[in-house]
Amino acid sequence: MHIFYGKASLMDYLKSIKTIHSSIGFVPTMGALHQGHLALMQKSLLENDTTVVSIFVNPTQFNNPEDLAKYPRTLDEDVKKLTNLNPEIILYAPSVEDIYDGKPVSEPFDFDGLENQMEGKFRPGHFNGVGTIVKRLFEIVDPTNAYFGEKDFQQLQIVKKMVAKNHLKVNVIGCPIYREANDLAMSSRNERLSGMERDEAAIIYKVLSTVKEQFVTKSTTEISEWVQKSFDNNPHFTLEYFTIADEATLISCTRKNKNKKYRAFIAVLVNNIRLIDTISLN
Ligand code: PAF
Repeated sequence: MHIFYGKASLMDYLKSIKTIHSSIGFVPTMGALHQGHLALMQKSLLENDTTVVSIFVNPTQFNNPEDLAKYPRTLDEDVKKLTNLNPEIILYAPSVEDIYDGKPVSEPFDFDGLENQMEGKFRPGHFNGVGTIVKRLFEIVDPTNAYFGEKDFQQLQIVKKMVAKNHLKVNVIGCPIYREANDLAMSSRNERLSGMERDEAAIIYKVLSTVKEQFVTKSTTEISEWVQKSFDNNPHFTLEYFTIADEATLISCTRKNKNKKYRAFIAVLVNNIRLIDTISLN
């Protein structure tokens, strides 16, 4: 497998293999690869001539230093997984210096308000960090198609907005959430959960599935109160936020409009580990 640690050599290589009609699929990740990541790569391999994967734990998107320090870093195992999946994959695993040239700071972005909801409220500066790194990676890789998981649905909408506002020529493709056997959404952060916490985290998707049923007959206020109660009774999990929002604007829904698409979004804390999940409601 080709592994590049520096952007200059990766860009030279991609230039040397690119032809007018060839396509590059790109899967940006922060490593600790799981089946959800591999599914994005499989899709990219099917749909493109070349697939580039990046593994980079981006410091500028972490508002909490403990979360950054504890983020799992498993490059050797990740390389094995990529080689098993397809040795033709090109891996870019840069250093902070290679990406930020000595200045690991975010650019300010305006995502038309998408950044002010949910994750943006609870993780100040997070989406400027995401916008900065994804834009830089797109400049380096120059992909035809880029693949993102729908677990981070707000991130997906933000990346689409950044691409549209900057007139970038890349198709941003959202892919379904991969779940563990107990329906916990796959996430690199799950590696930090104990066996018991992982089992108990099944509550998150159970709650979301019930919310989907309730959405047919109940108001969003009634549903939110029920969700809060479900977590109040649980000693290990703290609800950070729950909201039902318009998929396009991510603004919370107070009155349902049958012409709009809605989603429920949730973030919970277990032993200081943040888990997020989402479900489409109509
Ligand atoms: O979703 C992630 O893993 C990260 O936010 C991303 C898109 C790789 C940017 O660092």
